[in-house]
Amino acid sequence: MRKLRVGLIGCGNIALNGHIPAYLETPERFEIVAVADPFETQRELGLVKARLTPRDGYSDPLELIKRSDIDLIDICTPQHLHRELIEAAAEAGHNIVCEKPLAAVPADASAAIHAAKKAGVKLAVIHNYLFFPEVVAAKRILDSGELGDVRVVTVNFLGVVDSMGASGFKPKWRHDYASSGGGVLMDMIHGVYLANHFLGSPTQRVSAHVTSHTQGDEVESLALCRLESGDSAALVNIGWGYGHGGIDIVGSKGRLRVNYENFGTCPWSAFENMVVTVGSDTRVEPVNFEPNSESIHDKIRWSIAAALVDIADAIEHEKLSVASGEIGLEVLEMTLASYASAATGQSITVPLETSSPLHIKGVSGIKDLDFTSSAKDSPVRKHKLFGLN
Ligand SMILES: NC(=O)c1ccc[n+]([C@@H]2O[C@H](COP(=O)([O-])OP(=O)(O)OC[C@H]3O[C@@H](n4cnc5c(N)ncnc54)[C@H](O)[C@@H]3O)[C@@H](O)[C@H]2O)c1
Repeated sequence: MRKLRVGLIGCGNIALNGHIPAYLETPERFEIVAVADPFETQRELGLVKARLTPRDGYSDPLELIKRSDIDLIDICTPQHLHRELIEAAAEAGHNIVCEKPLAAVPADASAAIHAAKKAGVKLAVIHNYLFFPEVVAAKRILDSGELGDVRVVTVNFLGVVDSMGASGFKPKWRHDYASSGGGVLMDMIHGVYLANHFLGSPTQRVSAHVTSHTQGDEVESLALCRLESGDSAALVNIGWGYGHGGIDIVGSKGRLRVNYENFGTCPWSAFENMVVTVGSDTRVEPVNFEPNSESIHDKIRWSIAAALVDIADAIEHEKLSVASGEIGLEVLEMTLASYASAATGQSITVPLETSSPLHIKGVSGIKDLDFTSSAKDSPVRKHKLFGLN
């Protein structure tokens, strides 16, 4: 097994609590050799956590990328910064893993994918919820055909906690649409890729209700989305607050339900059980958890480690990772299509045309779309989300 030497860029919360501990717990696959962050406090935290000396800390990530003793660049900055770093890393010949979402704007995601292809390096996105044991177990049941054809997938993440960014950077960047590309839906894009994964066939059309319950906020706090794929559909309901969580899948022969503690939202609420009904028989499906993977931090760290190992395997065996750059782009477009649908009152077809303002500018392109008269008072416009007037 080959050990990958990792250069990590962006020493904020997910790097400090997820990626760096995940690498340190998998020494047979990874060795962190350098970290970069322009903000000194964050860089120092990264160096300490990664057990490196200041010699291997960079204020300029492009200097880190120049190092020749690196096999994998890991990008943990906010999404509006991903493209430039991916392009530089690809040009330097490094494989790349990037935090979700791949970018804030589809055109940036496309350019990043193109740069990796041109350089012949791997580009993977961290879609770590795919590695949660209950998600793996549910997908195995679907793939076995026990539930028949998948007809409806419902992902409820209505009790999401509004997380602050690192204190040494900009704690509120998730509420700045130019940096984040959107609010709770963009942050919890996990729900979109999970629904897509369970549907198992490409999404063709997206519609949504999107609004904000926080006076003066530029981004949404609630998104209720419908992804249509032929005769199947997924409902993805995501909101900051205290709502319900859980996953339901309905097939032509049965159904399954994933419950989290007190009907809460994963991963803040721990997994409780998975109930499978086929015909008139109902059972509680056993799901195997790693020891100590039930607290939110353990679950995130553990799932990120699984995603990183999947990427290391993809590099070693020259195969596709579970979440390629292309999948990252696909789910990013579904997310933006949800915003556009809520703003315009229309269903949006995906993939987006590359000439669409939504593809080119992300949420900032919504103002350039056609609005039906009925959508003039949509909550997205009423609350002036994403810079709309
Ligand atoms: N997969 C998951 O479960 C998960 C969870 C949380 C966050 N994320 C993703 O991880 C990314 C970072 O989120 P976070 O919560 O760690 O944010 P954060 O604000 O805590 O950290 C961001 C870090 O990036 C650094 N940074 C800013 N500009 C930089 C630059 N030009 N070069 C290098 N570093 C720079 C900041 O100093 C800060 O340390 C986001 O894309 C987010 O969506 C994923």
